[in-house]
Amino acid sequence: MNRDNAVFDLIEKEHLRQVRGIELIASENFVSEEVMRAMGSCVTNKYAEGLPGHRYYGGCEVVDQIERLAQDRLKELYGAEWVNVQPHSGAQANAAVFLACLKSGDKFMGLNLSHGGHLSHGSQVNFSGLMFNACCYNVNQETGMVDYEELEKTALAEQPKLIIAGASAYSREWDYERIRKVADQIGAIFMVDMAHPAGLIAAGLLKNPLKYAHIVTTTTHKTLRGPRGGVILLGKDFDNPWGYTNNKGEVKKMSQLLDSAVFPGIQGGPLEHVIAAKAVAFGEALTPAYKEYAKQVQKNAAVMAKAFMDKGYNIVSGGTDNHCMLVDLRNKFPELTGKLAEKALVAADITTNKNMVPFDTRSPFLTSGLRFGTPAITTRGAKEDLMLEIVEMIDTVLCNPENDANIKAVREKVNSIMMEYPMFAW
Ligand SMILES: Cc1ncc(COP(=O)(O)O)c(C=O)c1O
Repeated sequence: MNRDNAVFDLIEKEHLRQVRGIELIASENFVSEEVMRAMGSCVTNKYAEGLPGHRYYGGCEVVDQIERLAQDRLKELYGAEWVNVQPHSGAQANAAVFLACLKSGDKFMGLNLSHGGHLSHGSQVNFSGLMFNACCYNVNQETGMVDYEELEKTALAEQPKLIIAGASAYSREWDYERIRKVADQIGAIFMVDMAHPAGLIAAGLLKNPLKYAHIVTTTTHKTLRGPRGGVILLGKDFDNPWGYTNNKGEVKKMSQLLDSAVFPGIQGGPLEHVIAAKAVAFGEALTPAYKEYAKQVQKNAAVMAKAFMDKGYNIVSGGTDNHCMLVDLRNKFPELTGKLAEKALVAADITTNKNMVPFDTRSPFLTSGLRFGTPAITTRGAKEDLMLEIVEMIDTVLCNPENDANIKAVREKVNSIMMEYPMFAW
């Protein structure tokens, strides 16, 4: 077999980038060798439109078992009554919920994108904002935490049919119970997108939203440390018909509506190789070793946030309950944009991303903030002492972001430290 040098040389370059650097993007992680093997296996060759036992293709006996294993493990992990493991991504999982619960033009409510929300929760450039009528709630300007009073007022005034909790850049625990009460007052469906903290929830370190929400979605590749993908889960309300009808006027259970929304609604054949890798990752997440990992992710984030604050950085909401934090650069470096800060850190092999902060005065292309997270660096074995060293190095770069010699010195230190933290990567 000839090696495709163009592609495999680039894969090797990416491998080196990952091994040498400090990965602090809050939504990324490093999967295990077994997760990666499942993804790169022969299962990728199989078409399996439909669900286990009800496929549109022959030869699905084995992938049926794989998919059932993924379903059973996921149910056990979160105490779910029903799951669908086929969404190709988190945005696809959310799209399926919209298709199952709303009609085009219906109103729904999510956290403001510029306050930490996700594109698929109502951004005007996303299907959610283009096809549906989005309204939003915000974080409180003083506390940086979700303003539940405002959420309730807006919900009562706007009467959305769906309320979404969950975020891409929010470091605090959610009051799901309070949002469910608001949803019940107006007869809305309450969905939680737990994509970011899913791993900490699986480990029992944060509240399980399945106890409060009608529907829960998540990605599988962030704190959960699985392959890139999405899933949908239902708790006690799984067979509640809620009076929703399909386009033939028949009343369907929410689980049936969601299954049909995933396929044939928004997807064709499921990625059974990725579903195999999801099954492996869910199996890993059920082990005591994973719980220890998740605890360390949370501890590392708390230590990192405190170290930033000790150096005079402003952390939105004053700390973190989960795996991530949002640094508002404006008080310490009024002239420094998130864009330039990200560029300088990446040049020092410290990978992070620029992020809007609540009530940001800069555009999403510049931003005044940086988002940091500890899932990936913790997978490499980092403990609290390395968090202190990392904040020290970040500070050195940000104090002098255009000084190449300064950046080079930090990069050499980063590369030498990371040799002590081996990882599986291919
Ligand atoms: C809260 C939340 N939901 C959904 C997604 C979308 O996931 P994906 O990139 O897999 O579509 C993200 C991605 O970062 C996210 O943060």
